Amino acid sequence: MHILLLGKYGQLGWELQRTLAPLGDLIALDFPEIDLKQEENLSQLIHNIRPQVIFNATAYTAVDRAESEPEIAKAINAHAPRVMAEEAKKMGAVLIHYSTDYVFDGTQGSDYLETDTPNPLNIYGQSKLAGERAIQEVGGSYLILRTSWVYSVRRNSFVTKVLEWSRTQTSLRIVSDQVSNPTWCRMLAEVTAQLLAMAGRDVAGWLDERRGIYHLAGSGRASRFEWAQAILEMDPRREEQTVHEVQPALTSEFPTPAVRPLHSALNCDHFTDTFGLTLPDWREALKLALETG
Ligand SMILES: NC(=O)c1ccc[n+]([C@@H]2O[C@H](COP(=O)([O-])OP(=O)(O)OC[C@H]3O[C@@H](n4cnc5c(N)ncnc54)[C@H](OP(=O)(O)O)[C@@H]3O)[C@@H](O)[C@H]2O)c1
Repeated sequence: MHILLLGKYGQLGWELQRTLAPLGDLIALDFPEIDLKQEENLSQLIHNIRPQVIFNATAYTAVDRAESEPEIAKAINAHAPRVMAEEAKKMGAVLIHYSTDYVFDGTQGSDYLETDTPNPLNIYGQSKLAGERAIQEVGGSYLILRTSWVYSVRRNSFVTKVLEWSRTQTSLRIVSDQVSNPTWCRMLAEVTAQLLAMAGRDVAGWLDERRGIYHLAGSGRASRFEWAQAILEMDPRREEQTVHEVQPALTSEFPTPAVRPLHSALNCDHFTDTFGLTLPDWREALKLALETG
């Protein structure tokens, strides 16, 4: 199987490079080898490689910076996925793309289903939704996996930030009114690779029968405050912490350029019903992530 992975240095892409390696001939690229802002080059690259499966782990993920760089966010999160979908369609390949809980406005008060109506509150969410729609409009074979609160312990993430603050500060205030599903990038990569293994030799046909949008995130939900508490409790080098207390705070106390949805947790039952796979409970995954490093 010929697999093209775009975004190999990102949180998810780094793990995908490892989980996809046993499944076929893998070509993995990232910026600056390929710049997604240059559509012509992207199109030519895919054409030359002729992959059977394209994994798009690239994204413009700087949620606040996107507010002042909407064109760049759209180029990477919406225009480039359209080019990938078009090239995939031309050669009968499948595109596996990732999207976000930030396509929702977080006002529903319950976990979001794939059938719920998106209404992004910020440029990042709008650009990711535009990417989903572009892929669907092209009409080839695709899986769009919406995930949430992705973290790595290798690259800068909420988890590494909380660990860093815990060693430099005595008191932390963390928002308790933003709720979603913390998702360890390694688990997400493992499960995505298993889809390919399940697909067998007719990967395009098997995945095409199941094409669509799926929610795939860590099981259970947490507020950022609960997540931070769990990080501090499970920290394997707890003796290095200088922090003595963690206080809940409100999002409104920390104004940011991008408005964030409050309850954007995803209901992942459709993915489990279709593929028989589930990401573990977010606490179990966090424990493993912190122990593994
Ligand atoms: N992080 C989250 O909390 C979160 C939540 C929900 C959904 N998601 C989605 O999950 C997927 C993976 O996210 P992630 O956290 O792994 O992202 P990430 O760590 O930010 O990685 C994205 C990768 O894309 C690369 N990239 C950015 N601009 C590029 C360009 N012009 N050309 C080529 N490559 C470029 C980045 O390179 P540089 O580092 O050099 O910019 C980076 O290697 C994305 O679709 C994201 O939208 C993420």
